Amino acid sequence: MSRILVVYYSRSGHADLVAKQIAARCHADLERIEDRSPRQGVTGHLRSALESILGLRPAIARACRHPADYDLVIVGTPVWFWGVASPVRTWVHRHRAELKRVAVFCSFMSGCSHGRPSCE
Ligand SMILES: Cc1cc2nc3c(=O)[nH]c(=O)nc-3n(C[C@H](O)[C@H](O)[C@H](O)COP(=O)(O)O)c2cc1C
Repeated sequence: MSRILVVYYSRSGHADLVAKQIAARCHADLERIEDRSPRQGVTGHLRSALESILGLRPAIARACRHPADYDLVIVGTPVWFWGVASPVRTWVHRHRAELKRVAVFCSFMSGCSHGRPSCE
């Protein structure tokens, strides 16, 4: 059986919900990308916006799982300014040489009615 890892970042819980559902259905291991410093509230939102606009790679906690141990890595990210969330950028940059096959999902806000986030 192929080994699958779902690795994701979530600031406000939407990508977290989707990641857990995918992991359960695919019998995959789950790894959440963790910030080194808090990202909540207005300050956290502004920092996230700035990092996205400038393409920065913020510090993240060291990962427990090794992507090289998996046949497929599913990367989940909220959309921040039409791109990946900055902690995901850090993770991908750190682990890109260990990735064999990759799938991606994202949660976002655009184009959905009633302000409910969407996932693809
Ligand atoms: C800094 C920042 C930038 C965002 N930029 C976008 C965007 O460009 N397009 C979009 O559809 N949603 C954008 N969003 C909304 C998030 O993608 C959406 O709320 C997502 O579901 C959050 O996922 P999470 O709850 O897992 O953190 C942005 C949110 C933040 C905090």
